[in-house]
Amino acid sequence: MKYRTMGKLGITASAFGLGCMRFNGAASGDSIIDEEKAIRLIRRAIDGGVTYLDTAYVYLDKTSETVLGKALRDGYREKVTIATKMPMEYVHDRAEMQSLLDSELKKLQTDHIDFYLMHGINLEKWEYFKKIGAREFFNDMKAEGRIRYKCFSFHGPYDEFERILNDWDWDMVQIQYNFMDVNNQAGTRGLQLAGEKGIPVVIMEGLLGGRLAKAPENVQALYDAFPVKRSPVEWAFRWLCHHPEVSVVLSGCNEEEQIDENLRIFDTVEAGIMDEAECRLMDEVRAAYLSRTRIGCTACRYCMPCPNGVNIPGIFSVWNNVSLYSIDPRYDWNLRQIREADSGADRCIGCGACEAACPQHLSIIDSLQSAWSQLHTS
Ligand SMILES: NC(=O)c1ccc[n+]([C@@H]2O[C@H](COP(=O)([O-])OP(=O)(O)OC[C@H]3O[C@@H](n4cnc5c(N)ncnc54)[C@H](OP(=O)(O)O)[C@@H]3O)[C@@H](O)[C@H]2O)c1
Ligand code: SF4
Ligand code: SF4
Repeated sequence: MKYRTMGKLGITASAFGLGCMRFNGAASGDSIIDEEKAIRLIRRAIDGGVTYLDTAYVYLDKTSETVLGKALRDGYREKVTIATKMPMEYVHDRAEMQSLLDSELKKLQTDHIDFYLMHGINLEKWEYFKKIGAREFFNDMKAEGRIRYKCFSFHGPYDEFERILNDWDWDMVQIQYNFMDVNNQAGTRGLQLAGEKGIPVVIMEGLLGGRLAKAPENVQALYDAFPVKRSPVEWAFRWLCHHPEVSVVLSGCNEEEQIDENLRIFDTVEAGIMDEAECRLMDEVRAAYLSRTRIGCTACRYCMPCPNGVNIPGIFSVWNNVSLYSIDPRYDWNLRQIREADSGADRCIGCGACEAACPQHLSIIDSLQSAWSQLHTS
């Protein structure tokens, strides 16, 4: 495992950080966590050298922190740093912030949280957090030793990122970044701005929720033609770690094989590792993906559950996959499942709840209709 210095904090962290949002196939519609398996995966990652673990109050129907707390018994807590988050939707004043943090500490079975993040903010949410006194609360909790670092995770456009980053003395920031998102959200400019300020950057969605792990044929052809052979996952992580501003790359793993592969990859990658030909390859790969992607849904499930039963990420996943991997939708098992569960886009009543929750700011309602009609006419 390679370890990297976290900017101005001066501490080190494993380049591979384990994300605890996707255990047990939550992306495919089953949100019940397989506790035993999740604990096994977490401990396997730590035994392999992972020192950074990311969770949140809301992940996996609020069970992720509880399972992580159990996994960190028996001496594991002392080996790692924990990042967890405060969701805006659950706090309206100091008393609620206090009780939410208390409940997180209890679930995590710890007396302090290392990285405490305002969860998934943009400018509007940052203004809200300021209004309810979140800065004062975070400062006080830091002084009391209940949190070590005050941080935020971000989903929004670059100009909002810049304003938020410059608006407070943050200790760390978490952004969505991968070779497809160079000009999306905080993007490369945001990464570099944080780097200039010495603020460590933790990366989420480094594989775009898993989409970059499976190369469509036009992308695979590019990888195959390159003289050095690497898996799509290795290319994606290698590209991220090439950037010196990146401290930790989070990866949410569901299987032991994924943990093992990631441990192997993060043993080899460091800043500045890619040569010109490799950088050119990744530019070509990006263009090849873009030519076949229908919608930038990362299957994060922030929009779920839909009050009307629509399986939003499931439909978008099918829509992307039939395009990326040239699948005939008539024979697609996932689409059949969605129909059989009566969770298709025809159930959507346009209430808009999903769009307000989507960190990618997707036009979900219109896209669902396009997806549904294309999947049934092709
Ligand atoms: N704060 C926020 O707003 C926010 C938002 C999103 C995520 N996050 C955090 O960031 C973490 C990372 O994001 P993410 O889970 O979206 O990460 P990601 O790395 O983009 O995607 C994770 C998915 O990648 C696949 N994967 C991982 N390693 C693999 C391997 N070696 N081979 C093949 N496939 C592999 C798995 O997909 P399959 O399931 O298909 O196997 C896994 O579920 C999350 O777990 C969460 O802790 C935070
Ligand atoms: S707009 Fe449609 S898909 Fe979105 S939450 Fe409402 S009913 Fe569900
Ligand atoms: S539509 Fe948006 S909120 Fe829903 S899963 Fe996709 S990216 Fe996440």
